Amino acid sequence: MKEYKDITELLGICYPIVQGGMAWVSDFHLAAAVSAGGGLGLIAAASAPADWVRGQIHALRKITDKPFGVNIMLMSPFADEIMQVVVSEKVPIVATGAGNPSKYMDMLKEAGTIVIPVVASSTLAKRVERAGADAVVAEGSEAGGHIGETTTMNLVPQVVDAVSIPVIAAGGIADGRGAAAAFLLGAKGVQVGTRFIVAKEANVAQPYKDRVIAAGDNDTVVTGRFTGHPVRSLKNKLMREILSQEKKDMSLEEFETLMIGTLRKAVVEGDADYGSLMSGQSAGLVTKEQPAAEIIRDIAEGMKAVYRSKAAYFGD
Ligand SMILES: Cc1cc2nc3c(=O)[nH]c(=O)nc-3n(C[C@H](O)[C@H](O)[C@H](O)COP(=O)(O)O)c2cc1C
Repeated sequence: MKEYKDITELLGICYPIVQGGMAWVSDFHLAAAVSAGGGLGLIAAASAPADWVRGQIHALRKITDKPFGVNIMLMSPFADEIMQVVVSEKVPIVATGAGNPSKYMDMLKEAGTIVIPVVASSTLAKRVERAGADAVVAEGSEAGGHIGETTTMNLVPQVVDAVSIPVIAAGGIADGRGAAAAFLLGAKGVQVGTRFIVAKEANVAQPYKDRVIAAGDNDTVVTGRFTGHPVRSLKNKLMREILSQEKKDMSLEEFETLMIGTLRKAVVEGDADYGSLMSGQSAGLVTKEQPAAEIIRDIAEGMKAVYRSKAAYFGD
């Protein structure tokens, strides 16, 4: 396999910054703005039908000719059809979430697609590397949305040691300091989700953005641990209700009934009380709404400033 100098060369982007695929949040508007700004924008397919994804790809291509990707949740009932769409549309990069994409690897590789699975363990990282993945996103439990158990600080270096493909760190990274730390842990790039929820181009209802901006370091909670699929969100009425029901031996069905449609409720309807305000712990670092390109520049410049100050301190 070709040895790539870094992730920017592999992905054809300017900055080693990937905008994480975010169900309902990262449609073509946000993904196009991130790609046009020199990062890698990802359209989240989530559990949307294949035709919707095709429409999003066409719409993005009207705005930018820069590289972009589609994030495909492997548990989506439409995953097979969406894989066909990304191949027929020649989408350059596919990121996968929630599982092992091995069964799709041959068709994606044949089409020349770069495949980047999201993993929460070094075991899965090794498995997807063997299957032919080009890079992995190691996502720690500080992240927003569905999470694993291990923190970014611990997961990233262990995944770096376990595989020889480039590792992109995710979970808790929202500024140059976090990005610099991830590189020191051995990552070759960073994936950012939470900070992009408040990007100007993100089609997210204002009450959701406002809650992310107002949040502090202690304002997220994890629900659904008992289901095996824990989710991190901002505390609100819905999450408090779920947490109190969980203490009373809530069933999986009851949990699903309470959660169904709640991310849409937050993103589209702006219901900050009973919508699911998925967000990572880095919400406490997010202070304002900004264009995506400005967010990317701020992270990149912040990272450079960290390196400059450390070089001054250590003398080289
Ligand atoms: C609202 C929201 C929705 C998300 N949806 C998805 C998704 O559909 N697929 C996926 O692989 N990851 C999803 N994620 C995870 C992000 O892609 C990203 O890895 C994570 O947000 C990075 O951590 P951070 O939130 O600390 O920046 C989601 C995260 C958030 C906040």
